[in-house]
Amino acid sequence: MLDIQWTSDQPQPAAGQVLAVPVRAEFEPDALEARFGPGVRAALDAAKFKGKASTTFDFTRSHGDVLERVTLFGVGDGLDDPEALRQIGHDVVREAAKVGATTIVLDLQADTAAWNVGDDAERAGRLLAQGLELGTYAYDRFLSEDNRKPSSVQSVTVWADTTAPSEGTHAGQIIAAAVARARDLANGPGELVTPTFLANAAKEIVDGAGDADVSLTVFDRAECEKRNMGCYLGVAKGSAEEPRFIHLTYKPKGTSKGRIVLIGKGVTFDSGGYSLKPTDGMLAMKLDMCGSAAVLGSFQGLVALGVAYEVHVLVAATENMIGGKAYRLGDILTASNGKTVEVNNTDAEGRLTMADALVYGSKLDPDIMIDFATLTGACIVALGPYIAGVMTDDERLATDWMSAADRTGEHMWRLPLQAKLKEQLRSPIADMKNTGERWGGALTAGLFLSEFIEGKRWMHVDIAGPAMANKAHGVTTAGGSGFPVPTILEFLSGDIQLG
Ligand code: BES
Ligand code: MN
Ligand code: ZN
Repeated sequence: MLDIQWTSDQPQPAAGQVLAVPVRAEFEPDALEARFGPGVRAALDAAKFKGKASTTFDFTRSHGDVLERVTLFGVGDGLDDPEALRQIGHDVVREAAKVGATTIVLDLQADTAAWNVGDDAERAGRLLAQGLELGTYAYDRFLSEDNRKPSSVQSVTVWADTTAPSEGTHAGQIIAAAVARARDLANGPGELVTPTFLANAAKEIVDGAGDADVSLTVFDRAECEKRNMGCYLGVAKGSAEEPRFIHLTYKPKGTSKGRIVLIGKGVTFDSGGYSLKPTDGMLAMKLDMCGSAAVLGSFQGLVALGVAYEVHVLVAATENMIGGKAYRLGDILTASNGKTVEVNNTDAEGRLTMADALVYGSKLDPDIMIDFATLTGACIVALGPYIAGVMTDDERLATDWMSAADRTGEHMWRLPLQAKLKEQLRSPIADMKNTGERWGGALTAGLFLSEFIEGKRWMHVDIAGPAMANKAHGVTTAGGSGFPVPTILEFLSGDIQLG
C-alpha cells in the first residue's frame, strides 16, 4: 500500500521524487511560465503540448544538487468527474514508476492544475487514492523474478489548497485493495483458480476480517445434492474439480439497515461443455468467474469499510467441462425450486449455476438480491466491451444502483426484461429451456434468471464486457478488471430504498 499524504504547503524537491502537475486544456501559459520559466514555455510550444487528456510533457530542473523531474499531465476538461480523478491518480503512478521514482508530489493546486474539490471532498479523495493504488497493480504471480517489475512508487504527497479530501484516502485504499483482490482471482489460470481455490479465498477473507462479525459456509457436491441444486450440479457433472457452493455472511455492528444478497457467477473455466466453444471463444474463459471475483473482492472491502447492511455473498462455483460424466444436450435438470429445465445448449451454463444460487438466496429472506455474471456474449454485442447491462423491473433498485454507478464512474446501461421474450424459453417437455433464439440473448438470459427469484426484489448485472479486458484501458490492466467492485461498495455505503 502507498503512503498517501495531503498538504497545502509546498513540498521540498528531493532525489527520486517526481513532481506531477495536471494541466487543463485551457491552461494559462503565463502561469506555467511564471512557475517554470520561459524555457519550459518555449519547449511546450515546440512540442505542441495542449493539455489534451492522456498526453504528457517531461522536463527536469535543478535545485542545487537535486535534480527534480517534472511531468505535466494533460487532463483535457479537468478533473471534475469520478473517472478523471481515478485516472489521474493511476497515470501519475504509472508514469513515475517508468523512471523508477519512489515518491511523487502531485500538484493539485487550483491555479495551474485544474482542480476544484467540488462539494464532496471526501469522495474526491477516495477516488484519487483508488486511482493511485491501482497505478501500482500488476498480476505477476507467474513471472520469474527477472521479469517482474513491481512499482517503485512508495509514497505520494498531494499538494492542494485544501487537505479535506485526505478524509477519503483510507476508504479509497480499501476499495482499490478490493478491486485488486477481484483482479487477482480473475487473472489466475483455471488450473489454479478452481472452485476449491475460490472457497479458500473466501476463507482467507474471513480470516483477515479482524473482529468483524463474519462467517463462511461451504457446501460440497453431496451437500448441494441434498439441497436439490440440480441445475448447478448438472453443470458441475463433467468436471473433475469438486464444485463448491460458497456462502459468506457479514453482520454490521449496531442495527442493520437491511439484508442484501450478492451473487456472483463462478464458472472457473467455461469450455462450453458439449456445445463446445472454438478456441477463440474459449481463450478468455478462465475469466468466467469474474462475477464471483467481484462479490468476493467486495466482501473484503465492505467488511473493511464497515457498511451498515447485513450482506450475504453467494457463489455456486464450478467448471463447465466435457467428459464421460458431463451433462448432455437434451438432459432435463431440476432446480432447487422444483422447476425443470431442458438443456438445449450446454454453453448457457452460467444461468443454470445462478438459478440455484438465486433460489438459495431467496430463502435468506433478503430485502434485495443482486447478481453479477459474465453471462452472455450478446450483452457485449449490445453494449460494447465497457458497459454492463443492468436488468430489473424494480425501479427504485435501478435508481439507487445507477446513481451509485454515476458516483464511481463505472459504466452501466439498463436493458429491458421484455416479458414477451419468455416465449423463446418454452419447452414442450420441461418447464423451460435454458436458451432462446439468437436475438435478444442478454435479455432472455435475464428472463431465465427471473424464474428463480421467488418473488424477491432483484437485479441482474451482465458484466461480460467490462469485467474482462482484452487490453489495458483506463485504470484497468489486461485481464480481469475488478468491475464493478467500486460501484458495489458505493451502493452499500449509501442509503438504499428498502421495503
Ligand atoms: N461465459 C459465456 C458468456 C461470455 C461470452 C462472456 C463471451 C464473456 C465473453 C456464457 O456462458 C456463454 O457461453 N453464453 C452463451 C449463451 C448462448 C449459448 C445462449 C453466449 O453468449 O454465446
Ligand atoms: Mn458458456
Ligand atoms: Zn459462461
